Amino acid sequence: LNNGLGRTPQMGWNSWNHFGCNINETVFQIAGQQLIETGLSKLGYIYVNIDDCWSLKSRDANGQIVPDPIKFPNGITGLASYLHNIGLKLGIYSDAGTETCQGYPGSLGHEVTDANSFASWNVDYLKYDNCYNENIPALKRYPPMRDALNATNREIFYSICNWGQENPWVWGNATGNSWRTTQDISDHWSSMMINFYMNSRYAKYAGPGGWNDPDMLEVGNGGMTFNEYVTHFSLWAMVKAPLIIGCDMGTISQSTLSILNNADIIALNQDPLGVQAECINGCDYANYISGAQANVFVVPLAGGDKAVSITNWGTYNMTYTFDLTKIGVTGQATIKDLWTKEVQTSNAIHVTGLQKHSVKVYRITSNSLDI
Ligand code: GLA
Repeated sequence: LNNGLGRTPQMGWNSWNHFGCNINETVFQIAGQQLIETGLSKLGYIYVNIDDCWSLKSRDANGQIVPDPIKFPNGITGLASYLHNIGLKLGIYSDAGTETCQGYPGSLGHEVTDANSFASWNVDYLKYDNCYNENIPALKRYPPMRDALNATNREIFYSICNWGQENPWVWGNATGNSWRTTQDISDHWSSMMINFYMNSRYAKYAGPGGWNDPDMLEVGNGGMTFNEYVTHFSLWAMVKAPLIIGCDMGTISQSTLSILNNADIIALNQDPLGVQAECINGCDYANYISGAQANVFVVPLAGGDKAVSITNWGTYNMTYTFDLTKIGVTGQATIKDLWTKEVQTSNAIHVTGLQKHSVKVYRITSNSLDI
């Protein structure tokens, strides 16, 4: 969407994956404080996003949505000023239907009223869900909120959450800053894998202003191993997915932090060229299940570098050689491993003993002169 926002994928934190409906003002204040104290905000994680269950179940006499006064004693406005004062931004959630997925008021038919409420509360981001949509086509439900947000004259990032229904990659870029391409993620390797695979098929539709969204990060929620979370995070970065943290920031571990704060990996995601990585080896879904072949993604970066990920979706150690001529790099190149930080000069990447459910990510700088 050409609203000046989302020139690179959005980064931040959202309450849903860890807290579900069990939210209140303190949860978001702690998340915000922790983004600052851990240094994550400096790396780009600036949105603190409220998901479902923040309002009362009924609109007021004027037809407006009312923030739950027990959960948010200072209103949404109070939370917004708390976050703005520490240099962060606030996101909120609604639904392009009659109710949200958890049964709170939806915005269908109330787009202007609700967009004005969000703007008057100084909200910076809207995630717009797809429950209870009355089978009305998405193209009749998502553009009205885009127009209502635009008419507020407040800069509000517009995140479309319609689970890949009705080909959102086709109309998403004219409508929002990102669009969900998949069902909800869960904190399991197989869920992460299928969302990654599904999302990979729409690479050509992503670019500055509008991104494919395979759903939020589960890193740190406990359902995957360390290597699996490294793979999840690396691949989300490669394909320009939104990097929205979903773990409890109040109890975040050093090992979780060491994944989320890898500046070299984040730089791939936030690269200004804004191209989504594409698969060039082992791309069939059958290979994700079997893990028989190395699964290789490549992406061009601003300034001429390229990044390559090599994923072992299987359960046996993998040895693999990747010749750089396959990505148009001839002669010697500088190859940096973005997790171990080792740098080598070669014309090929040799991976030995890549463990099950693990990834290698490299940044390649060609040393040959263009003539
Ligand atoms: C849907 C969305 C999720 C989350 C829940 C909240 O399932 O896809 O991301 O927002 O609703 O109820």
